[in-house]
Amino acid sequence: MSAAIPAAVLPPLPLPESVVTLPAAPQTHVTIRGLSKSFAGVPLYSHFNLDLPRGKIVSIFGPNGCGKSTLMNMIAGLVQPDAGEILFDGKSLKDTPIGYVFQNYRDALFPWITAWDNIAYPLKRQGLKAAEVKRRVDELVALFEIRFDLRRYPYELSGGQMQTVCIMRSLATRPEVLFLDEPFSALDFEMTLFIRAKLQEAHVATGTTMVIVSHDLEDAVFLADRILLLTRRPTRIAELVPFDLPRPRQPEAVADPEFVRVKAHTLEVFRREMT
Ligand SMILES: Nc1ncnc2c1ncn2[C@@H]1O[C@H](COP(=O)(O)OP(=O)(O)OP(=O)(O)O)[C@@H](O)[C@H]1O
Ligand SMILES: [Mg+2]
Repeated sequence: MSAAIPAAVLPPLPLPESVVTLPAAPQTHVTIRGLSKSFAGVPLYSHFNLDLPRGKIVSIFGPNGCGKSTLMNMIAGLVQPDAGEILFDGKSLKDTPIGYVFQNYRDALFPWITAWDNIAYPLKRQGLKAAEVKRRVDELVALFEIRFDLRRYPYELSGGQMQTVCIMRSLATRPEVLFLDEPFSALDFEMTLFIRAKLQEAHVATGTTMVIVSHDLEDAVFLADRILLLTRRPTRIAELVPFDLPRPRQPEAVADPEFVRVKAHTLEVFRREMT
């Protein structure tokens, strides 16, 4: 009779590949396959593939003119790709509510209606009843802790207040995916900190998948769960860098060793791609 071997010293049983425990991959929300785009016959993207995870913030960072805005605009349906497929949970864009925040907030708001009416505009267009429109706007006012008078017109607001109104309007319809193209680039530092914090709170509160283009590496890393680093054109993915610092991240997070490490790594990849 053979002595029983204590379980602790037995080698682990080889598991079939399908049950090997890997960290759970976040669910894919946006699937991009075979995307190609040329301008004036010069390829920018050629057979480009990318998966965007659900409920995460992905920052797009890369050299000047590498196609950050074009990529985001193709996903958001503002630029037509030459070839390829983009699906949101297997659905096409037309069946997917999205939001978009432009860099140039001055041109993005309707100047002839108040800030409140700008935020309410997409809800009214959807045909929601007045009471529901008010409820949704009030919800956003609370989330963004708005202290200025939303009965003012865009020209009466500061740049930061205008961009805040743009972001509130983009979230009003409860989009599945929110796209932001350089939302901080025209803001001063104080307003950048405010909007960064509010975007993060909105993200935690709503779980909206967000895609942000930023030319500021600190902003790109601060908000991101993944930093998508692009190469020079013809553009490929240099790296998709995870950044898992818990949320909410305070402004001091920029001194956190993990933040410093990830920022240094992304800078290294960026430098490599520049040479
Ligand atoms: N409508 C267009 N017609 C012709 N060329 C275009 C057009 N849109 C973009 N391009 C070119 O495609 C390339 C990528 O442009 P895109 O604006 O996507 O880059 P980007 O990474 O967002 O740049 P930036 O860092 O300056 O914001 C650039 O070389 C640009 O000149
Ligand atoms: Mg751009």
